[in-house]
Amino acid sequence: MKQNLITPQRSLNKEMEKWLNEQIVMEGKSSAYYLSMASWCETKGYNNSAEFLYKHSDEERGHMLKLFKYVNQAGGHALQPEIVDIKHTFKSLREVFEDVLKHEIQVTKSIHEIVDRCLTSKDFTTFNFLQWFVVEQREEETIARRALELFDIIGEDGVGLWTIDMEIGKLHGLDDVAPAHR
Ligand code: FEO
Repeated sequence: MKQNLITPQRSLNKEMEKWLNEQIVMEGKSSAYYLSMASWCETKGYNNSAEFLYKHSDEERGHMLKLFKYVNQAGGHALQPEIVDIKHTFKSLREVFEDVLKHEIQVTKSIHEIVDRCLTSKDFTTFNFLQWFVVEQREEETIARRALELFDIIGEDGVGLWTIDMEIGKLHGLDDVAPAHR
């Protein structure tokens, strides 16, 4: 029988493809959410936080694309997600970073659920692929926690918020951020 050389053979089962597409929605939403936060910060003059969040938004799009390529290369079909219900306004800078942490915790949970399903379905290739996301989530949660700690340690009165914004600008790209109080 003639082999179809153009369509890759499927190595991803349909269920796994569906879960990975759901994760694509989550990463796409993360990117949009952080872009919205960056914009709000910029309009309020929190320029370092804005820069942090613009970069974070780009990184999330990168995560989404990583999943796109994996799904398609494994013979599935990655779907461009519909992004709706993005929050555009925030009560305070602290609320922005509280939302970042809450959101990252949800993303971690979602990644861990898929990893668990990989084991149940013996999909060790996807399990291996997702380990990058497991490590990335640990780092992202840590950075979000460090950002939030700054509000308590520095305090928001006087030049506090200005200082917090400056410090948040330094957090991006740090792989292993020690707690601010150490
Ligand atoms: Fe890619 Fe932070 O979720």
